[in-house]
Order: sequence, then C-alpha cells, then structure tokens
Amino acid sequence: MSRERPVALVTAAAGAGIGASVARQLAADGLDVVVTDAHERRCGEFAAALGEEFGRPFDSHALDVTDHDQVEAVVGAVARSKGGVDVLVNNAGWSKIEPVAEMSIETWQRCLDVDLTGTFVCMRHVLPLMIADGGGSIVNISSIAAWEMSTEHGAAYSAAKAGVLALTRVAAAENGPHGVRVNAVAPGLIYNNFLRKIYPEEFFDDYIDTKAFLGRIGQPGDISDMVSFLASDRAGYITGEVFTVSGGVSARG
Ligand SMILES: NC(=O)c1ccc[n+]([C@@H]2O[C@H](COP(=O)([O-])OP(=O)(O)OC[C@H]3O[C@@H](n4cnc5c(N)ncnc54)[C@H](O)[C@@H]3O)[C@@H](O)[C@H]2O)c1
Repeated sequence: MSRERPVALVTAAAGAGIGASVARQLAADGLDVVVTDAHERRCGEFAAALGEEFGRPFDSHALDVTDHDQVEAVVGAVARSKGGVDVLVNNAGWSKIEPVAEMSIETWQRCLDVDLTGTFVCMRHVLPLMIADGGGSIVNISSIAAWEMSTEHGAAYSAAKAGVLALTRVAAAENGPHGVRVNAVAPGLIYNNFLRKIYPEEFFDDYIDTKAFLGRIGQPGDISDMVSFLASDRAGYITGEVFTVSGGVSARG
C-alpha cells in the first residue's frame, strides 16, 4: 500500500449492518476510511462517531452508487484530498423479492443498477487510481444468493450478485499485473436492526434451528473480519476469489 495510512473508500457505510462494521473494522486496522452512503445525514453522523471512537477525523461523502456523476465526483474528490484509494469496498446492495412471473421491470432494473452496475461504476473510477499507484485491494460484497437455488432472495438480486462474482473475476484477471487484487465476499444471512424490523423473531429462530450450524445468525462483524483480511497485505496472494461467510449454510447446499 502506497500511503503511510492507507485510504479505504466504503460504500453504503452508514447503515445498520455490514458497511458500517467494515468501516469501523478498517478504521481499527489503522486505515483512513472515507465513509460514503446514499443517506447524507447518517453518513456525516457516522463519520463523526468514528472520529470520536478513534480520535482522528474521518471524511464522509453522500454517495448514491446509482448516480454515476456523483461516483466520479466523489472518487475525484478523494483522489485530490487523499492522493488515491488503496482499498475499495463495494457494499451497497438493494433487493425486493418478487417472483419472476410477477416481477416489475423497475424491480429488476433497480436491483441491477444498485448491486451490479453500482459496483462496476465504483470500480471503473477507482481502478485507474490503483493502477497509477501500482496496487490496491477491492472487496465486493456479493451474497450466497448468487448461486443458491432458492425462492428466498428474488431472481433480480441473485442475478445481480452472480454478476458481481463474474465482474470480480474478470477485473482480477485484468488488474493482477498492476498489483490490484479483486475479491468478493458472499455472506449468508447477516443480522441487523433493519432485518429485525421486517422479519418476525420466528424467522430467525427457524433459521437457527434448521439452517445455521453454529447456533446463531451471522453478525456484521463476521463479514468485516473477512473484508479486513482481504483488504490487507496478509491476503497478498489472493485475487479473483469468492469467500463465503455463512456459518456453514452455503456448504450444506
Ligand atoms: N444482511 C444480509 O443478510 C446480507 C446477506 C448477504 C449479502 N448482503 C449484502 O451485504 C451488503 C450490505 O447489506 P446490509 O444488509 O448489511 O446493509 P448495510 O447496513 O451495510 O447497508 C445499508 C445502507 O445502504 C445504503 N444504501 C442503499 N442504497 C444505496 C445506494 N444506491 N448507494 C449507496 N448507499 C446505499 C443505505 O442508505 C444504508 O445506509 C449488501 O450488498 C447486501 O446485498 C447482506
């Protein structure tokens, strides 16, 4: 990594789940984390909270990954203020479960726009900076929905997350010679306050009883630990891979 304190840009970092946990973990790892999220107020508040927690300032930028001009502007601003980006974590995701036979074109399109094209556009603007710097690490958050045969995720989400895996592999092949590693993490069900609001407690109890081998639902920290490793030089010989973190649910099939 080229800077004394490597710069990490995390998308959708001000929510209740994985993104915020990733931002906090990378900050704990000593990185200069740039907090971005579509929700401007929470974005600023979270960056300020990190600042309190770690005793140093963190920048924040409102960033909706479906606004391509905004992505370009934010990455440009970070490049000017920080000198580059060493770690990019593409965490923004969206889903709406509708059966294929009933799915609106808007649901299909929105899912692809956020989960797949949003990931591409962020990579498209960050990769040239990493190439110029001679290296970097990109971690894309996919999902076990990318390959599970299931009615639980919705086809648009599954297709978008599968696309993220293909995008990850091709980008890894193209950019390995530049020292840029590109990997994906595929979480199983990860608990957060938002999911708690939309699913009844029985849903989580049933998941633990029938699917999860480790007797609990995944926590955001389970994912941010993996992202932290992949972002670091400890993963220096790892690229083009997808790492499942599902407490065994994925392996069970
Ligand atoms: N939670 C799970 O069970 C689970 C499982 C597998 C994969 N994932 C994936 O993990 C990632 C994080 O999910 P999470 O549930 O932990 O949520 P999260 O809390 O990390 O993300 C929610 C945040 O995303 C922001 N956001 C929404 N749309 C955005 C956009 N277009 N641009 C930028 N920010 C946007 C929201 O403002 C909110 O702050 C997603 O890609 C999701 O698909 C989650």
